[in-house]
Formats: sequence, structure tokens, C-alpha cells
Amino acid sequence: MGRHGVGWIGAAAAPAAVLLPLLLLVAGGACPGARAGLTSEYRRHLGSAIDMPLDADVFRPPPGQNAPEQVHITQGNHDGTAMIISWVTTSEPGSSTVVYGTSEDNLNYTANGKHTQYTFYNYTSGYIHHCTIKKLEFDTKYYYAVGIGQTVRKFWFMTPAKSGPDVPYTFGLIGDLGQSFDSNVTLAHYETNSKAQAVLFVGDLSYADNYPYHDNVRWDTWARFVERNVAYQPWIWTAGNHEIDFAPELGETKPFKPYSNMYPTPYKASGSTAPYWYSIKRASAYIIVLASYSSYGKYTPQYKWLEAEFPKVNRSETPWLIVLMHAPCTEYQMWHTTS
Ligand SMILES: *[C@@H]1O[C@H](CO)[C@@H](O)[C@H](O)[C@H]1NC(C)=O
Ligand SMILES: *[C@@H]1O[C@H](CO)[C@@H](O)[C@H](O)[C@H]1NC(C)=O
Ligand SMILES: *[C@@H]1O[C@H](CO)[C@@H](O)[C@H](O)[C@H]1NC(C)=O
Ligand SMILES: *[C@@H]1O[C@H](CO)[C@@H](O)[C@H](O)[C@H]1NC(C)=O
Repeated sequence: MGRHGVGWIGAAAAPAAVLLPLLLLVAGGACPGARAGLTSEYRRHLGSAIDMPLDADVFRPPPGQNAPEQVHITQGNHDGTAMIISWVTTSEPGSSTVVYGTSEDNLNYTANGKHTQYTFYNYTSGYIHHCTIKKLEFDTKYYYAVGIGQTVRKFWFMTPAKSGPDVPYTFGLIGDLGQSFDSNVTLAHYETNSKAQAVLFVGDLSYADNYPYHDNVRWDTWARFVERNVAYQPWIWTAGNHEIDFAPELGETKPFKPYSNMYPTPYKASGSTAPYWYSIKRASAYIIVLASYSSYGKYTPQYKWLEAEFPKVNRSETPWLIVLMHAPCTEYQMWHTTS
């Protein structure tokens, strides 16, 4: 999809009785009707986007031998009391452990994760670590650290309050971000809203597939670029067409390979069988993520999952039902013809 944008949805004091808000959020300009409930809107200027060069400040790796980079977090279970912490080390695996706690100088909890690596044509990824920290308290600030020795890096995030109809929450809405100079302005714009607590990301992350051989180095630069936000608040991921990375001419026939290695989702917690469609609750919102580029027809796993999902939504508890998908339904099943 084309132009990226960002908006905010204030879920405060949801008007449960009068108007049950259903937000159907899609990326790109193809669905002008999908603006319901936006309290703010930002669209970057039109015109061709120029990508930031590899030596741009926002792509700079953190200092230190084998320092953790590309740190990103996403919700780790259905109710918001777990977080998946991910990061990359480049010269050796290092540690997959996260230490965390509610007091900055007393990170007295430990969780162990795992690392993985993938190849794409002639690219080999760094060591990609994923660690889920669980049993978090609601509405609490957590500090966490990754890395070992001289290269420990510390971050923090807030857990949401326990779901309920009147729990205020502000989601950011970003899609089609990429890594152009404009992408950087878009992210900076989002950061000016101090109330924004989590990002609903409606697909198309790095646009690495626009490069020859889908140069996966651009997946790494993208992750270093967005770390300044996504290390501190969860981004809820939706797969877009630029995540497919289906390239038989390069011998790459497994769709979503870079995306699925880098950006895990808590799909099992909602009974899903694939990471591309899932649901979570967060504050007063129930969020259903759909996969525009995975089969959705009747009797497919995604369809059957969605059918079973709707009855689980309790609008008294979560009056906001938000459905995220990258493309309007009419564009479905075009996944092999990337736009
Ligand atoms: C990106 O934006 C940040 C924050 O506004 C700024 O500090 C940085 O210099 C920008 N980098 C580029 C390459 O535009
Ligand atoms: C960890 O520290 C916090 C205070 O920062 C305390 O409330 C909690 O009980 C401690 N937990 C353990 C397992 O030591
Ligand atoms: C991958 O192959 C392309 C085309 O031959 C080449 O330009 C690029 O430098 C190679 N990259 C690596 C990491 O070997
Ligand atoms: C729906 O949520 C409300 C408010 O939290 C709760 O009182 C009610 O028991 C829930 N209904 C079901 C069927 O779980």
C-alpha cells in the first residue's frame, strides 16, 4: 500500500449505550470511510518518498560490543499481563534473558527467552531474541533490561489497566511506515502525543522488499529506526503486502519469513493457528487482527477462527471492538501480486 499515516483513537468514556463503536482500520488510501472515531489525524505530505541512507542517524547501532539493538515489544497474551520483548545481537548470540521489575534500580525478576536466526537469499540475520515476560500487574510501570556485561540496555513500558468499559486508553494508529525521511517525520509526529500508549500497526513495516534481493539489511535498519518508540510501548502488528517477501526467483518461497522471524504475536492465546491473525484485549478495547494475505475464504482456518471469535467479544467489558487489517476485503487473495 502507499501513503502512511498516523492517528489517535481515544477510547476514553466509550459511549457504550448509544453508539457501539466498531472501528475497521485499514491502511492505505483505499478506504476513505475508515475514519470513524479518529480524534486526530496526520498524513504525511504527498510526493515521492526518499529513503534515509544507511548511515542516517536513526539507523546507527547502539554503542558497545554486541549491544542489543532493534529492541521491540508487543503484547504477550490475551489480557495484557504479558509482554513479548524482542531484540537482536549481531556478533554472537549473547543472552536471551530479560531482567525486569517495577523499581528502576531493582530488576528482581528474570525471564529466559530463545534466539533464532534466518537467512534470506544471501542475507543472514543477526541473533533474534524473543522473551515473553508474564504475570505482570495491570496498570504498572515496568523497567526491563537486555544484554550482558558492558552492553546492558534498559527500557520501560506501562501495562494497561484491567479491561473494563470505562478504562481510558489512547492508541496510535500507524500504517505503511517505511524508512524514508517522511517516515521519520511521521514517527516524530506520533511522539508529540504524550498520551499515546500503544500503536495499532496496520501493516507494511520496512518496505525492504522494494530493494534488490529484498535486501534484508533494510529490515534491520527499520527496526533500529523505530526502536525509540517500540521499545517503550507495544506495537500491535498486522501483516501487510510488504511483509510477504515471497520471492521464488531468489529461492525464497516461504511467505512472511523476515516478518515472522522478527515480529512474533500472541496468537496462541486467542486460539489462532498462525501468527497473522489473532486477538487481544487492551483496556476498553477488543482488538481483532486479520491477515489480508492469508487465505480467508469459508472453511479456511482464518475464517473459522474469526467465526468463533466474535461470540467471545463481551461488549459490556470492551465496548470498543477494533478490527485491524491491511487491505479492504476486495483486495483479498491478491497476495502474490504485491502492490
Ligand atoms: C529523524 O527524526 C529525529 C527526531 O525528529 C531527528 O533527531 C533525526 O535527526 C531525524 N533523522 C533523519 C535522518 O531525518
Ligand atoms: C521485587 O521488588 C519489588 C519492589 O521493587 C517487590 O514489591 C517484590 O515483592 C519483589 N519480588 C520478589 C520476587 O523479590
Ligand atoms: C547479495 O547478492 C547481491 C547480488 O549479487 C550483492 O550485490 C550483495 O552484495 C550480496 N550481499 C551479501 C551480503 O553477500
Ligand atoms: C461481560 O462483561 C461484564 C462486565 O465486565 C460482566 O459483568 C459479564 O459477566 C460478562 N459476561 C460474560 C458472558 O462473560
